[in-house]
Amino acid sequence: MTKVHAAITAVGGYVPDYILTNAELETMMDTTDEWIQTRTGIRERRILKGEGMGSSEMAVKAVANLLEKRGISPEEIELVICATTTPDMMFPATANIICDKAGMKNAWGYDVNAACSGFIFALNTAAQFIETGRHKKVVVVGVDKMSSIMNYEDRAVSIIFGDGSGAVLLEPDTEGYGILDAILRTDGSGRVFLHQKAGGSARPATIETVMNKEHYVYQEGKSVFKFAVKNMADVSAEIMARNGLTADDVAWLVPHQANKRIIDATAERMQVSAEKVMVNIHKYGNTTNGTLPLCLWEWESKLHRGDNIILAAFGGGFTWGSTYIRWAYDTK
Ligand code: COA
Repeated sequence: MTKVHAAITAVGGYVPDYILTNAELETMMDTTDEWIQTRTGIRERRILKGEGMGSSEMAVKAVANLLEKRGISPEEIELVICATTTPDMMFPATANIICDKAGMKNAWGYDVNAACSGFIFALNTAAQFIETGRHKKVVVVGVDKMSSIMNYEDRAVSIIFGDGSGAVLLEPDTEGYGILDAILRTDGSGRVFLHQKAGGSARPATIETVMNKEHYVYQEGKSVFKFAVKNMADVSAEIMARNGLTADDVAWLVPHQANKRIIDATAERMQVSAEKVMVNIHKYGNTTNGTLPLCLWEWESKLHRGDNIILAAFGGGFTWGSTYIRWAYDTK
């Protein structure tokens, strides 16, 4: 029987207009453009402004972009999986809100939360529905409004993150293209290094938690850095080895955009040269679930049918993983 793979057949993206530069951050906190660029590679990030504007606003635009490019109507989508760490609300799922706003009336949907690894976790979850034949058109959207959980008095964390969204469409392929392999990992003991202290069921919101600024991202940067460098590089090298891929066989590395130094370390471990590595962290910072699809969105016109692509991610939890994709189309 012919094996069915889930192939990405379209990519959409959206970043908000407002640009928060390092120069503006210098006016808000004790930092410098030089420090931020040297430690992270980030020059600016996008911020979603406006009362009542949640993650879904960006996701809907990314999905609309995707549907237009593929030339299909929202009613044709059967399932939407939204990877996000900053849902519009605790419930209902942001996927439901996206389906409503984007007119995907025949789809069911749910959210996946695996912090910065959420997009590849969601992508591989979605792939199962295609591989089993259950669905023919599945949207995976990665979105985060990280500015909604940033303490702009915390210079070690707030300089890193930005807002944005990317989306991909998955459809069945029987010619050997699409998502071919994945290595996905979690280690919950890492939660102490990167989390949001309050607002969940263990520590619901109170006046005290708000006053203590416990609804923002808490991060022990050095520990996160250490784990990220090792784990993202390990799974990327492992997925190449078990699929018999050398660096020459890899057309593109699509790394999570957390820190330019982490990206460089992963590429070095894979022995993949810099021109094959998608990097947009200087423009967008770390958009959490948005980074990987935003890279695919920006590089789409350079991708060719048959390209071997490795996605790699690391995030809070800890969560991490890699995915091997044989790209399915040339952009017209
Ligand atoms: N501007 C200027 N100085 C800053 C600063 C800023 N924005 N943020 C921190 N500093 C200072 C610290 O206070 C410290 O000063 P001290 O030596 O006087 O105590 C010094 O810079 C070094 O801080 P440290 O936290 O050790 O820096 P670092 O080299 O580890 O870089 C990060 C900090 C956050 C950039 C880095 O640890 C990192 O990228 N970690 C991974 C984060 C990540 O990827 N998270 C997402 C995972 S998906």
